[in-house]
Amino acid sequence: MGPKLTGGEFIVILTGAGISAESGLGTFRDKDGLWTRYDLAEVATPEGFARNPALVHEFYNARRANSREARPNPAHEALARLRRDWPGDVLIVTQNVDDLHERTEPAPPGGDGPSGLIHMHGRLEGALCAACGHRWPAPARMAPADPCPACAAAATRPDIVWFGEIPYHMDEIWFALRQADLFVSIGTSGTVYPAAAFAQDAGRAGAWCLEINAEASAVAEDFDAVLIGPASRKVPEWVEGLLAALSHPPG
Ligand code: APR
Repeated sequence: MGPKLTGGEFIVILTGAGISAESGLGTFRDKDGLWTRYDLAEVATPEGFARNPALVHEFYNARRANSREARPNPAHEALARLRRDWPGDVLIVTQNVDDLHERTEPAPPGGDGPSGLIHMHGRLEGALCAACGHRWPAPARMAPADPCPACAAAATRPDIVWFGEIPYHMDEIWFALRQADLFVSIGTSGTVYPAAAFAQDAGRAGAWCLEINAEASAVAEDFDAVLIGPASRKVPEWVEGLLAALSHPPG
């Protein structure tokens, strides 16, 4: 399925909550999803944080605890394999704030995250000072009175991009989408922008676009092909097929 490949293609992959669902982390908009149980305006906006920082910290403390208990599933592992074995470049852009992608890869020296992985909506493992912009590793539990290690202000927040804020690294992402030969979206409902427009952006610039999701997303028509099924099965199958096509190119 898809275009003829040489191995030199640049692959850009967008992931969403669906890729971590089978690791036990809830999605947002499915039945029993986080936004059916919590008021998004109270826990995921700067205004909600200003009103009740303790409540917001509790919400993310609980999610951080869940994320630390979770393990990467075969979909995360398959993408790590693709990044290792694909001769061309592979960039993963994730909307997820868990660290299950990085846990499939050896940590690079210096404590940085792996290159080729962008957390566009921030990370549960990051703390951010709203006063001076300093970032540091998040402890298991954060509280409103926690002082910033750099400026001592009690303005600590989770390093998460909330509704109404601008996602991280957008220039780099848009540049990548324009260069991409293949764009693959995995486990996202296609309802939150700008990520929901990535297939359209990449497709217009010439990429072949594939969606892998439990159901057709809200933007499924922007893709050249859609694979429906659980990420833990569909992503390894897709990666296997891609790598096999390289070792046995169609005659
Ligand atoms: N395999 C593949 N897809 C799955 C699976 C699975 N096992 N389980 C659920 N899905 C699909 C659902 O069908 C749905 O289309 O994953 C998608 C999850 O959608 P959302 O809950 O909307 O999550 P996401 O698209 O990542 O949300 C985007 O919204 O609130 C914000 O900032 C938050 O990054 C998040 C953004």
